[in-house]
Amino acid sequence: MDWGIRNRLSRIILRNDNRALMLAVDHGYFLGPTEKLEVPKKTIAPLLKYCDSLMTTRGVQRTSVDPTYPIPIVLRVSGGSSIIGEDLSNEEITTSIKEAIRLNACAVAMSIFVGSKNEKQTVVNLGKLVNEAEEYGIPVLAVTAVGKEMARDARYLSLACRIAAEQGAHIVKTYYCDDFEKVVQSCPVPIIIAGGKKLPEKDALKLTYDALKAGASGVDMGRNIWQSENPVPMIKAVRAIVHQNYNVDEAWKLYIKLCNEKKSKPQKQNQVKSKSDRPNANNKNRPSANNKNRPSANNKNRPNANNKNRPNANNKNRPSANNKNRPSANNKNRPSANNKNRPSANNKNRPSANNKKN
Ligand code: R5P
Repeated sequence: MDWGIRNRLSRIILRNDNRALMLAVDHGYFLGPTEKLEVPKKTIAPLLKYCDSLMTTRGVQRTSVDPTYPIPIVLRVSGGSSIIGEDLSNEEITTSIKEAIRLNACAVAMSIFVGSKNEKQTVVNLGKLVNEAEEYGIPVLAVTAVGKEMARDARYLSLACRIAAEQGAHIVKTYYCDDFEKVVQSCPVPIIIAGGKKLPEKDALKLTYDALKAGASGVDMGRNIWQSENPVPMIKAVRAIVHQNYNVDEAWKLYIKLCNEKKSKPQKQNQVKSKSDRPNANNKNRPSANNKNRPSANNKNRPNANNKNRPNANNKNRPSANNKNRPSANNKNRPSANNKNRPSANNKNRPSANNKKN
């Protein structure tokens, strides 16, 4: 596989555990101002640091995502129909590859509507998008959209996922269903699941766990996170399942604990930043030329050549080849393919298809 594609993919499906936690906030492209996503910036900001990547549209990315925050973007590039229109499957590619490159996308995403009136159009769109995106080393995520009238069962979803993979999609996003192992096994590229409509939190955690256990590489979850009354505890609990091998009960306990902590510190959580916290000209704590705490050449705590704590060649704590604590190939604690404690497909404690735990 092309270096660029592999590199970008590894920012979406993390290389240490082959798992992905993508936060989906692209719903407005056909649903408009969906509940709890009315002001995307407000929804996204508190969750950004807990997801591995963000699935969004160019409009939301430009207006509502901090360009200086290092979050990999999976850019939805298809659209054209709305929830009140005649046929949701009537989609085209609406955002160009040039735009995806300008926006520094790690992948582009679009929907296919297998079995719908516009099946051919959307499948051909996918093939063309793969042709174009691969020229620039950009992976393509195909979403297997399911019309209201279609059954979300293993037979249909296997068909749709396999068709997406056959067209060259590098990741396929689909829905969880009974016998999900069959869907995963017959799709030669990684599968991640959408959360779907809002469920009670414990059910959404179970959905996550069951999908991973059946072989999914992760989740691209939206409503079950940001429509929760407690979005941050919810994303942390989902994250614990995806990346820390928590089972449903463990993740649920974590969720409850985090909600209780939130209740006991309402002030801190909901506090609007006071003027003195704002980085403006009148704020004494602002990193300005006159501020003694500013990391300047004269500040002893500045990481410069004369600072003993600076990670340089003479600093014993520096992560160097001779430092035993360095995460190197010879360090037994390093999360490598040979580390038995690594959450890999062969780790019995990982919620995998073969793990009977829970
Ligand atoms: C739907 O077409 C969008 O691609 C969403 O990103 C997707 O459905 C995942 O979001 P949710 O978890 O809310 O279903």
